[in-house]
Amino acid sequence: MRIDFQPGDYREVACDLLAYPVFEDEAKTFSPLEPLNRITRGAVKSVISSREFKPDLHQICRICKPAGLKARNLLLVGAGNRSKFDPAKLRELAGIVVRSAKSRACKNVALLCRGIPLTGLASRLAAEGALYGDYELDIYKTRDNEPRNVEILQLLFDRRAARKEVEEGIRRGIITGEATNYARTLANEPSNILTPAQFAERAAAMGEQAGLAVQVLEREELERLGMNTLLAVGRGSDEPPKLIVLRIKGQEKRRARQPLYALVGKGVTFDSGGISIKPSEKMEEMKGDMAGGAAVLGAMLALAQLHPRRAVVGLIPAVENLPSGKAVKPGDVVKSYLGKTVEIINTDAEGRLILADAIAYARTLGAGCIIDIATLTGAIGIALGHVNAGVLGTDQRTIDRLRRNCSVTGEKLWQLPLDDEYRKAIRSEIADIKNVGNRAGGAITAAKFLQEFVEDVPWVHLDIAGVDLDNDGRPFACKGATGFGVRTLVNLLE
Ligand code: BES
Ligand code: ZN
Ligand code: ZN
Repeated sequence: MRIDFQPGDYREVACDLLAYPVFEDEAKTFSPLEPLNRITRGAVKSVISSREFKPDLHQICRICKPAGLKARNLLLVGAGNRSKFDPAKLRELAGIVVRSAKSRACKNVALLCRGIPLTGLASRLAAEGALYGDYELDIYKTRDNEPRNVEILQLLFDRRAARKEVEEGIRRGIITGEATNYARTLANEPSNILTPAQFAERAAAMGEQAGLAVQVLEREELERLGMNTLLAVGRGSDEPPKLIVLRIKGQEKRRARQPLYALVGKGVTFDSGGISIKPSEKMEEMKGDMAGGAAVLGAMLALAQLHPRRAVVGLIPAVENLPSGKAVKPGDVVKSYLGKTVEIINTDAEGRLILADAIAYARTLGAGCIIDIATLTGAIGIALGHVNAGVLGTDQRTIDRLRRNCSVTGEKLWQLPLDDEYRKAIRSEIADIKNVGNRAGGAITAAKFLQEFVEDVPWVHLDIAGVDLDNDGRPFACKGATGFGVRTLVNLLE
């Protein structure tokens, strides 16, 4: 899809679909819609007064062969309450427009940025949303219809920032949009395809293209280093575990002056629970238990192209958690890479085990700030539903910055506490720590476990288990992996 921009006399734009955002209050006062209504000979008023179209957020109404326009179709798009319209909504509208266009096989599409000046940010978000909406989950469909691709999306505007700024916004939006879709592709892959080895191979291939140095630590190396909590999780599977490390080429010099940011993503390519096996209902969703790792790969792909000032390293412990005669068992004690011993009470609390070693390894690489992202606990979904991801940690400045960015990233974060008192739940009788507490505060005790391995390094933990997957369907995206976290991480670091 090519994304372009031009001044917006929408009457003159010859395209397959012209999208025209409408705010809720305009359906009542109507006067701002009068010019369009006049041109289309009353078509707009007619669909609004008949209630065929209500400009609630995300509602759409298509008018075929509208009078007075050169466009083949006019798409009215509900923009909701004007006072609640934040930049992230523009991203969603762009996604809706692209999806509607695809469903009607419209190739040439124009989106009128009404009342919103086309700034660098606005153009970036529109581009991101367009690519997000364009993404389909169809690679395993052998009998599908013809691909219906939007070939060109034109952003029409009344007012715009400097041309350079808009061009740069679009360029950046395409980079983050593609990186988010890349993460979605990985998280949607079934686990028979995306094994830990395949995960590492994809990382290497992507790194080669994007200019990242990718190193894969193999099982023997992990054994030599003593990464036993990572190895313990992988032991039940025939697929050997890997630790994937990604660096941006050319950043070596910068490290002395500023902290190295380590992005650590949980990469469990399938989580059966291991010996503490999960119920079979919805177990198939656990192919996406590497969504945190996918977000780190996506973020690194984008950052490689955005040349951030901050130095970044990505780490992804990749394993498959299965039961077998070799699998780790409840009650087993293992010594982590950091040296702390862990009693594994529940083999289904495997994410924190692999992250523990990856986090400790990040510290040996000199990380001055650790950000981990993981589908870590079912409890976070119970606490926050599918709207906000949980954020916890010790680096309050970074947490505040991440939360401030939410209105732009569209990825909502809600902070949970980390008081010392929660530590008690993971005290072990036999080892330094055990890997689960009781059910109370499950997302917090999971983070407390990670904190044992972070120690004094400034740290942020993102628990994305409630938001990594969309089963309900949203009008601006296909169902499946959401790619949550790519935009949050990129926005923080670029
Ligand atoms: N991968 C799961 C968490 C999860 C649950 C992700 C639902 C996405 C949707 C994690 O490894 C897990 O199984 N956690 C356990 C921890 C428990 C044993 C303390 C959980 O949340 O039940
Ligand atoms: Zn688990
Ligand atoms: Zn898991």
